[in-house]
Amino acid sequence: MIWPAEGIREAVCPVLADFSVEILPELDSTNTELMRRARGGRLEPILLVAERQTAGRGRLGRDWHSSTGDSLTFSLGLLLSPPDWSGLSLAVGASVAESLHPDVRLKWPNDLWLGGAGGDRKLGGILIETASIGEQRYAVIGIGINIAPRAAAGLSTPPACLRELDAALDAPRALLRIVPALVQTVAAFGLYGFAPFQARFNARDVLHGRLVSVSDGKGGLLQGTAFGAGEDGALLVHTALGMKQITSSEVSVRPQPTAGKAA
Ligand code: BTN
Repeated sequence: MIWPAEGIREAVCPVLADFSVEILPELDSTNTELMRRARGGRLEPILLVAERQTAGRGRLGRDWHSSTGDSLTFSLGLLLSPPDWSGLSLAVGASVAESLHPDVRLKWPNDLWLGGAGGDRKLGGILIETASIGEQRYAVIGIGINIAPRAAAGLSTPPACLRELDAALDAPRALLRIVPALVQTVAAFGLYGFAPFQARFNARDVLHGRLVSVSDGKGGLLQGTAFGAGEDGALLVHTALGMKQITSSEVSVRPQPTAGKAA
């Protein structure tokens, strides 16, 4: 695969002077690698792409499966000190979705979904981790996106892929579209936090107005109608007991089937 490493570096350098781009044929996980490097004192801003991950990780301790060419897997690592960290995955999601296609929607807190005629299916996901090094905090923003169709093994709904939206898109082209705007987004988040991104997230929120179940994996369950993200990125859910704010990233949120529409 031919990657546009230099084009990305040139586009990003005005925002992040010492930015570098590294493309590797194989890694356990781009997030794991950047977290290892950060703990070893390497805190420079970097985009790390793996053509194949052998131990890709998702949210809630899940595995993230991908194969060479059929998916795009990368992490952006940089020092960040926003006024408030809440909502970073939503701001990142809004940026990635806007760079890709109007039909790319967002499911709180970290999923990219394909909406429109293709139905609601997961297109990709975001995994954000941070390492505290002295007074500083290094953020690792990992993104995995399906490029070509992949098997639905073990998944209740078959995943979506970018080729459904644009047959000419491959992993290198998608990366070039995403990264420059993503770096700008993360830099703006570092200055202003989530507030400037609230409307942008809500414009693509796939759960808005839908009946949802929120589960903490320990039997705790809440049901209600989703009303988008609040100023701090919390998911607002209107329940029988009033408006609740879901802030924990440790929950799973599922839309309930609505009449004439599959969840
Ligand atoms: C999720 O949907 O649960 C998040 C998936 C995040 C996957 C990406 S692929 C690149 C980076 N490296 C990983 O191990 N995970 C993230």
